[in-house]
Amino acid sequence: MLALITGTALQSVLPRPNELIYRNTPYGAPSGPLLEVQLGGKSVYCLNRHGIEGQTAAHLVNYRANIWALKELGIQEVIATATVGGINPALARGALVVPDQVIDYTYGRDQTFVGIQRIDHYDFTLPFDTDLRDILVRALPNEFQSDEYRHGCYGVTQGPRFETAAEIKRFNQDGCDLVGMTLMPEASLAREAKIRYAALCLVVNPAAGVEDGEVDIEDTAVVTKKALSALEGVLERAVELLQ
Ligand code: HPA
Repeated sequence: MLALITGTALQSVLPRPNELIYRNTPYGAPSGPLLEVQLGGKSVYCLNRHGIEGQTAAHLVNYRANIWALKELGIQEVIATATVGGINPALARGALVVPDQVIDYTYGRDQTFVGIQRIDHYDFTLPFDTDLRDILVRALPNEFQSDEYRHGCYGVTQGPRFETAAEIKRFNQDGCDLVGMTLMPEASLAREAKIRYAALCLVVNPAAGVEDGEVDIEDTAVVTKKALSALEGVLERAVELLQ
């Protein structure tokens, strides 16, 4: 069974839910109800990580409760969506990217189930599930079927502020192509919970200092809105391709 963990904007284009499931977990309440929708001819569960009203900022999301609730529901795969800034100048506004690596720059987030469930170390060489990533790559539109969209390293920042130009220069030197605030610890918690996890990213702005001037925050909402149906199309094709 598949779940989508999304941001707020995508909710407006997803099919209306048939069912809303409210869950509690040993870690507290998830961001909101799990919505059951029909997508690509299948039943899929959707969770807005920012809450149904979009009220929870990335650094305040209860990632552990979200992953725990999905696991308890029997979810085996998660496709996460995330809006990002483009560090790689080849990634223009509106680009869809399936990342294959992560660098975690966040701090102070509850980032593990270790200590309650008995797990010690686990492999995280490839932070995204290879098969699920392949499906997302196949589902990308033709215009995004080249290497810069089919791979990429996502740098995760704490937020809620965007970065300084110097920080982005450093992330670039570290090998990051994209920057966002949400995929960690979501991806590593999914790995701990043995849920296959991959992500689809939408570039909504050039990251700080990549272009002259400041980041136009208002424009990110405009870019997001324009790209929503393309994003939804990729998700629908991916669900169809998933066995
Ligand atoms: N930085 C961090 N998070 C983001 C950005 C960005 O430039 N764009 C969208 N989410």
